[in-house]
Amino acid sequence: MHTLIPPHGGNLVNRVVTGALADSLRKEAEGLPSITLSAKQSCDLEMIGIGAFSPLTGFMGKADFEGVCRDMKLASGDIWPIPILLAVDKAGAPKVGDRVALKAPNGVLQAVMTIEEVYPHDKKLEIPNVFRTEDEAHPGVAQVVKEGDTCLAGPVEVLTVCVDPDGPEAFLDERLTPAQTRAAFEAKGWKTVAAFQTRNPIHRAHEYLCKCAQEITDGILIHPLVGETKEGDIPAAVRMECYKVLIDNYFNKDRTVLSVMPAAMRYAGPREAVLHALVRKNYGVSHFIVGRDHAGVGNYYGTYDAQLIFDDLDKDNLGIEPLKFEHAAWSHKAQGMVSGKTFPKIEGDQVFLSGTKVREMLLAGQRPPGEFTRPEVADILIRWTQSGG
Ligand code: ADX
Repeated sequence: MHTLIPPHGGNLVNRVVTGALADSLRKEAEGLPSITLSAKQSCDLEMIGIGAFSPLTGFMGKADFEGVCRDMKLASGDIWPIPILLAVDKAGAPKVGDRVALKAPNGVLQAVMTIEEVYPHDKKLEIPNVFRTEDEAHPGVAQVVKEGDTCLAGPVEVLTVCVDPDGPEAFLDERLTPAQTRAAFEAKGWKTVAAFQTRNPIHRAHEYLCKCAQEITDGILIHPLVGETKEGDIPAAVRMECYKVLIDNYFNKDRTVLSVMPAAMRYAGPREAVLHALVRKNYGVSHFIVGRDHAGVGNYYGTYDAQLIFDDLDKDNLGIEPLKFEHAAWSHKAQGMVSGKTFPKIEGDQVFLSGTKVREMLLAGQRPPGEFTRPEVADILIRWTQSGG
């Protein structure tokens, strides 16, 4: 019996192999040709293994790839917005029926895969559909452009979940799988859960979104993305320090779970918002926060495109409810957080600081105003910025 939302496609996938089977696969892998994955592919593989990408059981085949690019649908008919591909160079690519060892960028054996399909990587189909641009200055586009021209598809058997368990971004205590977050929510008796996706420190606007969501659900999952991000984004280890200090000081801990999501960013704006929502559904989340310019970069997407995209999706298949928030900021007049929905715009009333201004302040050892960032968070960011971050 499900009290929590069912996973996407109905069943929570688990492709992680342990025990005697894992031992024999490790032995087998010694004699197999190996492929060294990119950071993005390695993140995707972990997400598949733990069931965060349910119903996917491996890297996508051609029918899924084309359906996803064209109609945001898997061959099964389930909504899916972004291809999950193992793209390699054609030269030396394995053949259908081959078994291959998949290694993380640091050389750790991550999985064994059976090749069921080999097909050309149609970047001309993928890039404009997924990113709504072909501009190679877009970091997600640039990533796909440099990927291989040949895709390998087939099921994976994952042997190592976190490939760098001693590294600064392992967060083993907070690296909960979907089965584990579901168990945690059930233990708390939660039926409705909101999730907050982020790749930034939590400032007051983010905090406001989380608190609003908490008012209408049993609890919140603060779920930072800690997989590959672009140059210039704040490292996950620094962000985790910020999240912890914020939760300790400003959240009701009984109603808050902090866990990390080991996915890679694509910066695909609207389509990535849908992916972020579906993945959270797999983690047992019923409501997903989508604010301004979700998963956006530069000026490629309209401020609310990542909200509008949900309006055209089949609500039953989507399952998870998007919680759409307008741009939020502190209003001096209202003495609180407001958005265009709750308070009129008054010239000069709202606290707005550009990223550049915040960085300048932190570098100079100055806390941004408390209406923008909590002082405890500011202090961590000052320390990091001044130490060369
Ligand atoms: S994202 O790439 O994960 O979207 P970020 O961590 O900045 O980037 O944002 C996390 C979430 O907060 C997203 O849903 C985003 O739309 C939302 N958000 C960020 N800042 C604001 C704001 N000032 N007002 C409303 N929503 C916001």
